[in-house]
Amino acid sequence: MTIDLKTVLSSNSRLASVETPLVALFVGATSGIGLGALKEFAQHAIDPRIYFVARNAKTARAIVDELHLLNPRGQYEIIEKNVSLIKDAEAVAEFVKAKESTLDLLFLSVGFVSLDGRQDTTEGLDASMTTRYYSRLRITQLLLPLLNRSTSPHVVSILAGGMEGSLQEDDLDLRQARNWSVARASVHSATMGTLALERLAAENPRVSFVHAYPGMVSTPLFDRLASGVAGFLLRWLVVPVIRLFSRSVAEAGQRSLFLATSARYSVDGGIVALGAGAGGNSSGSGGALQRGARSNGGRGIFLVGAGGEIADNEKVLTPLRKKDMEKVWEHTEAVFNSGR
Ligand SMILES: NC(=O)c1ccc[n+]([C@@H]2O[C@H](COP(=O)([O-])OP(=O)(O)OC[C@H]3O[C@@H](n4cnc5c(N)ncnc54)[C@H](OP(=O)(O)O)[C@@H]3O)[C@@H](O)[C@H]2O)c1
Repeated sequence: MTIDLKTVLSSNSRLASVETPLVALFVGATSGIGLGALKEFAQHAIDPRIYFVARNAKTARAIVDELHLLNPRGQYEIIEKNVSLIKDAEAVAEFVKAKESTLDLLFLSVGFVSLDGRQDTTEGLDASMTTRYYSRLRITQLLLPLLNRSTSPHVVSILAGGMEGSLQEDDLDLRQARNWSVARASVHSATMGTLALERLAAENPRVSFVHAYPGMVSTPLFDRLASGVAGFLLRWLVVPVIRLFSRSVAEAGQRSLFLATSARYSVDGGIVALGAGAGGNSSGSGGALQRGARSNGGRGIFLVGAGGEIADNEKVLTPLRKKDMEKVWEHTEAVFNSGR
């Protein structure tokens, strides 16, 4: 069931009646879907305290100025870090922990896809995988104590929920050149993301976790797909066609805020309760919005497709949980404990 935009907007607007000031951290909101979600959140929340990560604080000042115009009562703080490094991801979490005792929303949309090949960071990991998996998970893990103190804590990861696939079990970080490909780095990031978040969900039953696929969204992601001649040709020939079929950043931001606040994707009453009698589907039948089903027979996370529908990938996930869940966790812990 695709959730119509009217329902999304009506739910988002009700954020203005939540009187407790909300605290949020956005990672990946200097551009694209994250930026859309950040603006939507700032616009609707009352007195929010918002932290967002930027690789360059100077250029991010313009975003703060815009947020002040959208909501002069909000407090906005830039955390200048590059989370393609796990050590920077850890520093981001420490920064927030030093300032806040609770966190209501952690919104993760950092990441990129590169046709230029594997890009090793100084920590020896592929940057496209660190931004999409390792750093996202590390920040989440370190901020769980704050999230657990919120009345209705939410973690939203924008990537490829419902599109999990099989893993190269003996090389989860795709260190071997023969194992790395753009597609495999994407599948590994998404699949390890779902499995690890499911584990955190089991250990933290009060926290609502969403892993969503945003659909095609017209963001700078496409302009950065490749460098050189290939990049030039892509930007001039292929990207304009992709953009014709893509959703706007504004709509992606609105839909993302819905995922982050609505009771539909919450283990509790949500930051915003389900609208009574809201028109809930694309057919315009006006059916009431339903709470979504979680993965793993209701024990896992909310896997969500482009239209806000609950994605069912249990055929793939059920054997993966048995076969690879522990391997993924052990591998991830080993990476986090590797003493950078
Ligand atoms: N757009 C789509 O159609 C689409 C579809 C499916 C999934 N996704 C996924 O959704 C997520 C958000 O996509 P988007 O379209 O919003 O992308 P975007 O506009 O390119 O924004 C990506 C964010 O990640 C940061 N980032 C990119 N490369 C980085 C690096 N090497 N190191 C540190 N930070 C980096 C960017 O920071 P800077 O501003 O500093 O560059 C920005 O904040 C991505 O993980 C993407 O793979 C997107």
